[in-house]
Amino acid sequence: MILQATAEACANIALIKYWGKRDAVLNLPATGSLSLTLSGLVTRTTVTWAEDPGADAIVLDGKPAEGAERERIATFLDLVRALMHANGSRRGPDSPRATVESSNGFPRAAGLASSASGFAALALAATRAAGLELADEQLSVLARRGSGSACRSIFGGFAEWLPGNAADGQDSHGVRLLAPEAWDVRMLVAVLAERPKPKGSRDAMNHTVATSPYFDAWRAAIPGDLDVARQAISARDLRRLGELAESNALRMHATMLAARPPVLYWLPETVAAMRRVWEVRDAGLTCWFTIDAGPNVKVLCDVASEAAVVAGLSELPGVLRVISSRPGPGARLLPAPVAS
Ligand code: DP6
Repeated sequence: MILQATAEACANIALIKYWGKRDAVLNLPATGSLSLTLSGLVTRTTVTWAEDPGADAIVLDGKPAEGAERERIATFLDLVRALMHANGSRRGPDSPRATVESSNGFPRAAGLASSASGFAALALAATRAAGLELADEQLSVLARRGSGSACRSIFGGFAEWLPGNAADGQDSHGVRLLAPEAWDVRMLVAVLAERPKPKGSRDAMNHTVATSPYFDAWRAAIPGDLDVARQAISARDLRRLGELAESNALRMHATMLAARPPVLYWLPETVAAMRRVWEVRDAGLTCWFTIDAGPNVKVLCDVASEAAVVAGLSELPGVLRVISSRPGPGARLLPAPVAS
């Protein structure tokens, strides 16, 4: 019997950001957050479990994973091994070995949320390969342990991460707010740098919580932001949602700028792209930006504005390319290849 499964998941971009943890071991957030899953940023992952001795074999975009990145995935696979034992889904040696092959259709670790799509696809492929069928919320709890934002990528369209109260984190997971086909909007990713970022979001967020005098104000504003965002989504009010998302992203970056030493992800090209969004908006286009833990600028816009916003961004000298996305599907299993 081959214990193998392949899954795909899309990255998501937060409109109300997750920036700060209340528990670093269980990866529990200080606040809720809300995102849009993107059709254009997909990770595909195959996991095979075998009774061989030895370490897990992990290949990311054709190269063996190394160092901290490898460690993080192997630690996540330990959680799946623990679930396998707890559910009695396997017999035999204590440590089945995993072979993981994962490929991204976009640059990894450049602020394009590859850890979100990566751990969502890994959670689904690793559990199904082991014969475990978790409900979406349980899968989301598991994906969260790999990377917080991954818990939202289990769901398509607009999703919210409920921070939860339970000490064991079982109530801290994503929920779907709106199916991908329920509201046709666009998210454009202006890719400014394809190299891995200098400081990972995990370290930067912990550093912000520990040292930024603005962190409490950031955290206190999130429940109100989430209320407005939910209302805007249910009313399909893009203007209200876009204005709020842009403000929320700027407040997150202001909070990290106030950390000591400061965290600054922006490049000169980032600021140029932000200004371009303001210019084309003043000229009548319907668009707002958001920025994560990297230099790239993401732009939420309506379908009618898409082509003109892409053109406005593409002519900037620092923009390498613009990836256009619709609301994307949740994590899904791919059919097993037919044996020939
Ligand atoms: C700026 O989910 O990558 O993209 O839980 O430590 O893996 P860890 O952090 P991660 O942080 C994402 C931060 C963000 C905002 C967001 O996606 O909500």
